[in-house]
Amino acid sequence: MAGHSGELWLGHIGATQVAVMSGRKHGYETGEVDGMKVPLRALQALGCQVLVQTNAAGSLKPGLPPGSLMALSDHLNLPQRSPLVGETGSERFVSMAGAYDPALRALAQTVASRSGLTLHEGVYAWFLGPQFETPAEIRMAALLGADAVGMSTVPETILARHANLRVLALSLITNMGAGLSAEQLSHAHTLAQAEAASSTASGLLASIIAALDVPNATAAA
Ligand code: HPA
Repeated sequence: MAGHSGELWLGHIGATQVAVMSGRKHGYETGEVDGMKVPLRALQALGCQVLVQTNAAGSLKPGLPPGSLMALSDHLNLPQRSPLVGETGSERFVSMAGAYDPALRALAQTVASRSGLTLHEGVYAWFLGPQFETPAEIRMAALLGADAVGMSTVPETILARHANLRVLALSLITNMGAGLSAEQLSHAHTLAQAEAASSTASGLLASIIAALDVPNATAAA
């Protein structure tokens, strides 16, 4: 689909072995939120230990303008949907405290500052989509403590924690949330903004992955 090409690359970034998924299933495609269950479990079975996710997101804060990069420190699962519904066993009651691994975030901060880049940190509010939010929903998300909004990442983080994968997630801010600027939101606008920041973002991503001190990592775009 547009913006998500659906390829899998296997290789190395520095000394880190990687499986890179170019694109992934989103809840807004089918209404099901467990579309990444099988791919993530397959990568885990291959030996992946870390899931590095990227996404495009809308900002709720003036200090987080389009073009910014933000490491997720936490999330709000606003649809209250879980890819673990239907699982059995006590492991399904997985803790989501510290889901975005603090040590991986610290590593990302070290790599970003070495490259002279600001890496913001904040809370990501998941909306199912595919429609963009209303201005009222954006005000609600900000009141609830979110810094950015988007339509992905949260189900994958839940699946990854259930599978004992460590998670790092990075948002590329492509726009201000609805009602916070005069911009008209569209998928084309998101893609154009993502393209404009892509070389900085992908350079940082590669440096972070190369700095991971694990033999295997997973990266999903
Ligand atoms: N809302 C939801 N998803 C997004 C946005 C947004 O404003 N920008 C990029 N992805």
